[in-house]
Order: sequence, then C-alpha cells, then structure tokens
Amino acid sequence: MDWGMANRMAQLIQADGHCLFLPIDHGYFQGPTHRLEEPSKTLEPLLPYADAVFITRGVLRSSVDPQNTKPIILRVSGGTSVVGKDLANEGLTTTMEEAIRLNASAVGISVFIGTEYEKESLLNLAKLVDEGEKYGIPVMAVTAVGKELEKRQARYLALCSRIAAELGARVVKTYWCEDFDRVTRGCPVPVVMAGGPQVDTELEVFKFVHDGMKKGAIGVNLGRNIWQNDHPVAMIKAIRAIIHENATPAEAQKIYGSGKAGKSRAGKTHPSRKNAR
Ligand code: 5RP
Repeated sequence: MDWGMANRMAQLIQADGHCLFLPIDHGYFQGPTHRLEEPSKTLEPLLPYADAVFITRGVLRSSVDPQNTKPIILRVSGGTSVVGKDLANEGLTTTMEEAIRLNASAVGISVFIGTEYEKESLLNLAKLVDEGEKYGIPVMAVTAVGKELEKRQARYLALCSRIAAELGARVVKTYWCEDFDRVTRGCPVPVVMAGGPQVDTELEVFKFVHDGMKKGAIGVNLGRNIWQNDHPVAMIKAIRAIIHENATPAEAQKIYGSGKAGKSRAGKTHPSRKNAR
C-alpha cells in the first residue's frame, strides 16, 4: 500500500484496529432530518468521541470548523431524494479534486445492488476507486437498501459487501444483521456497521454493536441511533467503550446511565422511535 493510502487508512482506523465513524450525511437525500436540522449543533458535542465524520461537502464547508475537526469521509454520491422517484438512482456528486481540496481522508459512495440502477452504481464505485487509488484516497462503499429496510439480511448483505470489496472498496459499510459473521467472512476488506433508523432501546443498540464486533466488524458508522437519542453524548461514549475498550452491552448500559444523569437535550423524542428499524 502506498504511503498516502496507508496514512489515510491509519487516520480512520485506530491503532487497536477499530473505529467509530460518525455519519451526519443523511440530509443529502432526507433534508433536515430529525435532530440533524442544524448539523453544527448536532456534531459539536459528539466530535471529541468520533474517529471520523461522514459528511457531504456542503455541510462540511458550512458547519464544521476547519481548525477543530476529525478525519473526514466525504460523501460523494447522491442526486436523489426521499420524495423523488427512486433512491437507487444516485450518481457521483463530487470530483476527487474536490475531495483533495477538502483534505478528505476517504470518500464514500452508496451502491444499490439488486435494483434497476445496480450496474450504474457499481460502475460509479469502480470509477471512484480508480480515481481514489490514483491519489491515495480510500473509498468506503455503502451497501444501501433505500426504503427497503427488510433487505437487511445476511445473504443479501454478504453479497453486496463482497461485490463492493471485489470492485476495490477499501472499507465496506453495511448493516448489522443476524448471522453477521456470514457478512464479514465473505468480505476481504474491513467492515463497519450502520444502524439504520433509531431502535426501541439503547440496550438493543449496544447488543448489536457488540455482536457485530465479536463477529468481525472493525467498528461502526452509526448515526441516528446516536444523535437522535435524548442523550447523544452518553450514547456515543457507551458505544465507544464497546468498540475501543471491549465493553459488554451491560457495561455500555452503565456508561450510558451515568452519562445521561445530566440534562437531556431539548427536543422531543422522535415519534417513530417505537417500532422503528
Ligand atoms: C445515509 C448513510 C449513513 O451514513 C448510514 O446509513 C449510517 O447512518 P445510520 O446509522 O443513521 O443508518 O449512508 O445515507
């Protein structure tokens, strides 16, 4: 691996081989998502506990202090919205030149396997990998499911993760699922877990993160289950303990409990929290 690529990978993946990426890129297709209406306010208290931030160039420039940040994974795919025809019809939204100008440590792109736009999104990934390898910038592939959350099963996610790795992704972001080891076993590059919509309890999050780590993930790229929580700082600290300190779900719950002893943030719990996932 060339020095630049190795150095960027080391910025993202910590010395223990694990990582906590914090995604706040959701607005690129969801608009002002609940509790991400003002990205700088969401990000600021969480930043000290993140190893990297997954973000679009617009929010990076407008809402992140260049003198006080963490490694950036730049979201470079998009062009669709939740109210549009098809979330899978994404294209590349940014050039590698722009990623370099923004001093990104990596770039991230979604692939939509099994959809009408499978080929296009996979060829976009391959093209991005060509560009990234030229400049020593790792590509993180996101195995997206769009609105079809029921797709999050080992057989499908293993297929997607492997294809993304075959096309040259240096890191694959996929969802945690039952039999998660089937996903990691078949994927020859590091795998990080996303969370999807907020789940019913914090313990549920701690359990799936812990299970995924035991089954071969190197960390998370976890957004809504952190920053939509009533106590986001307590939440990220607890998840960080699982990832970097090998904490059990019960220990993480304790960390969360002591962290939330302080004041919760303003704003109502999302009404969809019950039954979400
Ligand atoms: C959104 C993304 C997010 O980065 C990813 O889904 C992780 O966030 P969450 O844990 O909220 O699902 O790719 O497009």
